[in-house]
Amino acid sequence: MATHRNGYSGLQIGLHWLVLVMVLVQILIAENMTEMVDAIEEGTAVPPEAAFWGPVHYWLGISILAIMVVRLIVRLVSGAPAHAGDQSPALVAIAATLHWTFYVVLIAVPISGLVAYYGLADVGDIHGLARPVLLTLIVLHALAALYNQFVRKDGTLTRMFRPQA
Ligand code: HEM
Ligand code: HEM
Repeated sequence: MATHRNGYSGLQIGLHWLVLVMVLVQILIAENMTEMVDAIEEGTAVPPEAAFWGPVHYWLGISILAIMVVRLIVRLVSGAPAHAGDQSPALVAIAATLHWTFYVVLIAVPISGLVAYYGLADVGDIHGLARPVLLTLIVLHALAALYNQFVRKDGTLTRMFRPQA
């Protein structure tokens, strides 16, 4: 796997920040999907707001899945730069684990959503764990990035904004 690069590519950077926005919107509108499927299951009218945002949850979720698959391929083919600064091997390993966990979670969560939607309603409860799991991962990851950038001053955040070939 290629890891000896100076920075992330424009594509990697663009998709990184796009996925952040999409995931935050997805979490904010998710309850509408629950309302929509509950109403359909109970045979009651779907509230207008849920009838609008439920399908948005569906398509936004599938788009996140597609983008994460593209990101995974790009990551495997073109790699990532070595960790900025001279951090301890343990912290570097934790950061790498967190990065790979994002790929696993953001591919598994939409798939579990599709499974819940197309039949196995019980899977919906597991799928709903996406909110606490993702918010925890994002907070830890963002705090680590901010710490590296502003306390250790190693340019970690800067390189997620400045593309390198
Ligand atoms: C990264 C993508 C996704 C995230 C972060 C996400 C997140 C969530 C969350 C947090 C809930 C629980 C909402 C509540 O509090 O009631 C939920 C519900 C649901 N989502 Fe997603 N979702 C994603 C993708 C998808 C996709 C692609 C589908 C496919 C149709 C889907 C279908 C559903 C369904 C059916 C429910 C209701 C589950 C139930 O209560 O039984 N989701 N989603
Ligand atoms: C849904 C939210 C997020 C996801 C899924 C995510 C995912 C990732 C992944 C997988 C990487 C590794 C590089 C790659 O393979 O593309 C990465 C790197 C990075 N992320 Fe995020 N991230 C999110 C939110 C954030 C936030 C909120 C910040 C900052 C406040 C941030 C800052 C960074 C930085 C600075 C790097 C580069 C780390 C390095 O060079 O070692 N990310 N992110």
